[in-house]
Amino acid sequence: MSQHGLGPRQLTVKKAMTKNPKLLLLAGDGIGPEVMNETRRVIQWLSAARGLDFDVDEDLVGGCAFDAHGHPAPPAVIAKALAADAVLLGAVGGPKWAGVDYARRPEQGLLDLRKKLGLFANLRPALCFDALKDASSLKPDVVSGLDILIVRELIGGIYFGEPAGIEDLGGGQRRGVNTQVYTTEEIHRVARVAFDLAGKRDGRLTSVDKANVMVSGLLWREEVQKIGNKEYPDIQLDHMYADNCAMQLVRAPKQFDVIVTDNLFGDLLSDAAAMLTGSLGMLPSASLGARDESGRAHALYEPVHGSAPDIAGTGKANPIAMILSFVMALRYSFDRAVDADLIDKAVHNVLAQGLRTGDIAGGGETPLSTAAMGDAILSEMEALN
Ligand code: IPM
Ligand code: MG
Repeated sequence: MSQHGLGPRQLTVKKAMTKNPKLLLLAGDGIGPEVMNETRRVIQWLSAARGLDFDVDEDLVGGCAFDAHGHPAPPAVIAKALAADAVLLGAVGGPKWAGVDYARRPEQGLLDLRKKLGLFANLRPALCFDALKDASSLKPDVVSGLDILIVRELIGGIYFGEPAGIEDLGGGQRRGVNTQVYTTEEIHRVARVAFDLAGKRDGRLTSVDKANVMVSGLLWREEVQKIGNKEYPDIQLDHMYADNCAMQLVRAPKQFDVIVTDNLFGDLLSDAAAMLTGSLGMLPSASLGARDESGRAHALYEPVHGSAPDIAGTGKANPIAMILSFVMALRYSFDRAVDADLIDKAVHNVLAQGLRTGDIAGGGETPLSTAAMGDAILSEMEALN
């Protein structure tokens, strides 16, 4: 499946005795496999050029897993994900599975993985690369230098709340129900992640809710404030309603440092924030669980973009979000900041040279293919090494 002769097999075989970190690659559907191909090359380069060896395994998730096994996240895949030090996921879903029962949809596979790995904190940085400030739909001065981080609660709220379902009321009437629900503990643990991250950045946190109409939002606001008062007196905390936040994100996005919010608002606001940067094809994300006594936490890294079925298989996809997701894994799961910085720098340099895939190319530029972008990043990494 690789255009570069690097099948998954060559990477999986590592001496059984070594304690290499375990990486599970789940390329998924649509453009997932294409962007994962380029990331696999980056992983292999780290082994060859910098002696960083992973035990890499691969499996199916999403629609492709449903096609092969009748389930979008088969138990064997969940077991592998639980055993891995980090999971890299491409994308799931597509029109092919639109008619599939809800419980077996590709998206459900992703939700299952998040839930079963306990990945309650989803980090979505929105960073505007200087070379791309003209690719944003907003004016360059509104987005230039933008660097914000959305922390989205990922395994609670209306995505998972009970009751949920469609009820037949008879007489042609039906009733659809989802439930927004949060407990103190669910709010506290994601708030702490956000406060900690704000402490490593500009020291400012905005908590987003709809406390004006939802009691669950009122609880959210009160509990985040409590954690702030008790544990993080040095972080500047403020609160904002979600609708206002959506507006502020497109009006003056640089006012934010870290935003913490619930599952649904986080889903919406992170798409909006992503687009500020010029392209969804650029943005990585990390989903983290709680640390155990040994300091180990489950973690899944994936691009914010979806499976883009309209361009799947055409070699047009931008592999940068996937590669930067792996860079986040190097930082958060593997403590390899130097390698992470090198790859980040390579991506910056490639963009500064004017190299672009179709999603970020301007009118006059000839877009690079997915693999050609991979080539450019790899040769820049080589030059920086
Ligand atoms: C995201 C996606 C997912 C979500 C879908 C694919 C289930 O939109 O990661 O933002 O809604 O969480
Ligand atoms: Mg989304």
